[in-house]
Amino acid sequence: MQVAIVGKGNVGKALAPNIAAVGHSVVYGVREPQDPKYASDDGIPLKTVREAVSNADIIILAINWAAVDNVLAECGDMAGKVLIDCINPYDFRNNLAPLVLADQSAAKIIAGKTAAKVVKAFNQVGAAVMADARNRKSRPLQFIASDDEDAKKSIIKLANDIGFDARDGGSLDYARELEGMARLWIAQAFWRGMAPTTGWLLVAD
Ligand SMILES: NC(=O)c1ccc[n+]([C@@H]2O[C@H](COP(=O)([O-])OP(=O)(O)OC[C@H]3O[C@@H](n4cnc5c(N)ncnc54)[C@H](OP(=O)(O)O)[C@@H]3O)[C@@H](O)[C@H]2O)c1
Repeated sequence: MQVAIVGKGNVGKALAPNIAAVGHSVVYGVREPQDPKYASDDGIPLKTVREAVSNADIIILAINWAAVDNVLAECGDMAGKVLIDCINPYDFRNNLAPLVLADQSAAKIIAGKTAAKVVKAFNQVGAAVMADARNRKSRPLQFIASDDEDAKKSIIKLANDIGFDARDGGSLDYARELEGMARLWIAQAFWRGMAPTTGWLLVAD
């Protein structure tokens, strides 16, 4: 599949090489592909957001919440494409105060602004876990939520391929719980001494 990762920050850089390593064609979509600040040795091409998205089957939004409207405008028409939302809409400078109402989620709000099939995924653990999920003894849990069953299945497969224990997280209504999992994870990692390499695990013994 053709995968466009919009944003080359912590999450973009963690996911891109892993998705490329399992056989997908991956590009980054960034504001200024010529800007030397985006240079790295991962071998993944840099395109403008519009170029990257126009050729993609799957788009991964690895950007901050405040950038959503600008980035969606830059992406253009995404009808028929799968859009993965990794965003955790919390204020990092204010005790992780929610930036959306309690009965909303970043994913639901984004779904109301695009014709793409929105999938909530890759938000529940830190970038360090996404970077090396395949090399771990235990596969870190990752719930995948979407209102589109086919899109959800394809991202469950992708998440499994890159090393997660990927589970069906239900409809996009559950995105707010998945965002809440991230809030808890971030608070533990920032303030409670939990290693940022910690993943979630389900056990049933
Ligand atoms: N960090 C984590 O461990 C983690 C884990 C799970 C989920 N998340 C979520 O994932 C998202 C990304 O986190 P991150 O840590 O990767 O953030 P980051 O390192 O700050 O990277 C954000 C990226 O967004 C890009 N961006 C901002 N505005 C843009 C625009 N208008 N057009 C194109 N690109 C734009 C930035 O590009 P410029 O350099 O051009 O500004 C940057 O590459 C956040 O919503 C976060 O809540 C993060």
